[in-house]
Amino acid sequence: MAESTLCKKKLEGKVAIVTGGASGIGEATAHVFAKHGARMVVIADLQKELGQQVAKSIGLNHSTYIHCDVTDEEQVKAMVEWTVKNYGQLDIMFSNAGIFGRSDQTVLDLDLSALDHLFAINVRGMAACVKHSARAMVERGERGTIVCTASIAASRGATQKTDYYMSKHAVLGLVRCASRQLGEHGIRVNCVSPGAVATPMTCSAFGMDAEQLEKAFEPHSSLKGVALKQGHVADAVLFLASDDSGFVNGHDLLVDGGWLD
Ligand SMILES: NC(=O)c1ccc[n+]([C@@H]2O[C@H](COP(=O)([O-])OP(=O)(O)OC[C@H]3O[C@@H](n4cnc5c(N)ncnc54)[C@H](O)[C@@H]3O)[C@@H](O)[C@H]2O)c1
Repeated sequence: MAESTLCKKKLEGKVAIVTGGASGIGEATAHVFAKHGARMVVIADLQKELGQQVAKSIGLNHSTYIHCDVTDEEQVKAMVEWTVKNYGQLDIMFSNAGIFGRSDQTVLDLDLSALDHLFAINVRGMAACVKHSARAMVERGERGTIVCTASIAASRGATQKTDYYMSKHAVLGLVRCASRQLGEHGIRVNCVSPGAVATPMTCSAFGMDAEQLEKAFEPHSSLKGVALKQGHVADAVLFLASDDSGFVNGHDLLVDGGWLD
């Protein structure tokens, strides 16, 4: 990260939740939040060992892991309530937990049970996180910020991965509705839409290591000589979560180097 970006701490004293914070984009963002002075970063994820490691690497006085399956609304509600009870406030929800489609299915061979499973996480889970974090912020009169992870898949079609593309369109719909509805409470809701970034999710889905994946996607970006890294996405989330984006609401921030279809 540029030195100038680090000079001013942008989240001093804030309490943030990062879903899917045990790995990939969520993990990188949890670190950036902490570097920027967040008082507490709650890592909400299914992966206990990895989540605890992330919290430990940040420092247990500024981060903690809590098990939460975002498909279970009660767990999401309890996780948000636990955060507010223990840390006194909730300023930032980074709703990021998500999975990639399991198959390359087109609409002709759409596997609807696989679609249900993916939607339970990417759509229903995302909605539950926005709902319960917003409720907690409204109840306490906090002018919080909510950032969701959408994708370049949220605003275009594709020749495969139909369920994944559909799910990310739904995230964009959620953000557009929630931003209009929560604006009156001073709560901003935005999303970040990365291009392809090498994370455990994409490396495993494409069967490539990080270097191979970056090479494979290089032709899709109009920006040359730089590969998209988790840190680029984390910096964009920091912008949306902080006062730097104080009048930005309902925005889909593409972090794709100028994606070429
Ligand atoms: N990597 C990319 O190229 C890319 C591009 C665009 C959007 N995204 C989105 O970014 C987000 C993060 O993905 P990533 O690439 O960092 O993947 P990742 O697999 O590294 O991280 C995702 C995290 O979400 C957690 N998770 C999955 N299901 C969960 C559930 N039910 N409850 C709680 N946590 C759960 C996982 O345990 C994991 O820690 C996803 O929403 C993904 O769709 C990724």
